Amino acid sequence: MNLEDSTALQFDTPYMVIDFNQSLKNMKKVQSFADQHGKTLRPHSKTHKIPLFSKRQISLGAVGVCVQKVSEAEVMFDGGVEDILISNEVVTGIKTDRIADLASRGCRIKVAVDSEVGMSSLNESAREVGKEIDVIIDVDLGMDRCGILPDDFPGFLKKSSGYSNLTVYGIMAYDGNVADESRSERSRKVASEVETLTKLCKDYERINGEPQTVSVGATSTYDLWAEYDIITELQPGTYVYYDRRTTEYGASTMDEIAMGVVGTVMSKTHSNHAVIDAGYKSTSIDNGRYPILIMPSGDTAPVTSMSEEHTVCSDANQLKIGDRVLLLPSHACTTTDQWDKAAIFGLNEKPGTIEIKGRGMRE
Ligand SMILES: Cc1ncc(COP(=O)(O)O)c(C=O)c1O
Repeated sequence: MNLEDSTALQFDTPYMVIDFNQSLKNMKKVQSFADQHGKTLRPHSKTHKIPLFSKRQISLGAVGVCVQKVSEAEVMFDGGVEDILISNEVVTGIKTDRIADLASRGCRIKVAVDSEVGMSSLNESAREVGKEIDVIIDVDLGMDRCGILPDDFPGFLKKSSGYSNLTVYGIMAYDGNVADESRSERSRKVASEVETLTKLCKDYERINGEPQTVSVGATSTYDLWAEYDIITELQPGTYVYYDRRTTEYGASTMDEIAMGVVGTVMSKTHSNHAVIDAGYKSTSIDNGRYPILIMPSGDTAPVTSMSEEHTVCSDANQLKIGDRVLLLPSHACTTTDQWDKAAIFGLNEKPGTIEIKGRGMRE
């Protein structure tokens, strides 16, 4: 992320800023990795939430996108993205009707499922509009979030084939929990997940024939999964911007981070202490982690506390009131969700702003 370009923009602070050229490099890096390993890439759009970015990822070779919410799927489809996997569970009739509506409008919509309640509702909504909807069975390989437990998989798969308007097309497993700073530890955990998944693929083949798609992976694990033949699709998301966290576990360098928040030093009442006009309403502190603060010199300074509107930095001798600084968030996705629009440079000839159309899409 280019500090000079980010802080030179003539916007009032705080503002979120995107380095589009860097983001494009990140997109190309992961796409060519997936291509080299013979896997399709279905990037998660929850990081950028911008249809234009998804369309760029698709034009580089991605097969479609993941979204987490029905409302995000609607934003993406209205923005011109046609192949969308809701990689999350949907159970209410209002939402499954909206999914069926997307299918009627020509969207190649797919949905992750882990319950009969969800499948019945989706089946009913699809039947009402005379459509068949593709579903992928979400399994829990250890994240302890959504997903069918491995022991229950064969029974669930058998039941899932009984819905007239649903077509089961594969298995999905998300493992964002595997984010250890040691790559060998992540590799060991993925190898153990592969063992379980291989067994589930055999169950699938016995009951339903070969799965068309086996979709897995996060920014912390996609490169490890790519080594295994049973995997067909990778679904990382954060790589489009990277962040402090991905840098800590070695998936990116600091230079590859493509989004941040620019703030101004607004108070400096004693020598070592500076306060920035952007707090956690501007920069997510998911898991209690503070952003990296970059000063005009390019050096970093420690963040010691944050509140809604303030970031406090100790050891800030170099800073003076009015200086612009760049905050590189610990989590890019949750930071993006705090902004209706972002400053962007590298997209057009002149820096401008871009609307974050999927921001705040909760249902
Ligand atoms: C189901 C699913 N797939 C993919 C991703 C992308 O993971 P990451 O942002 O770590 O690359 C997420 C992120 O939360 C997710 O929930």
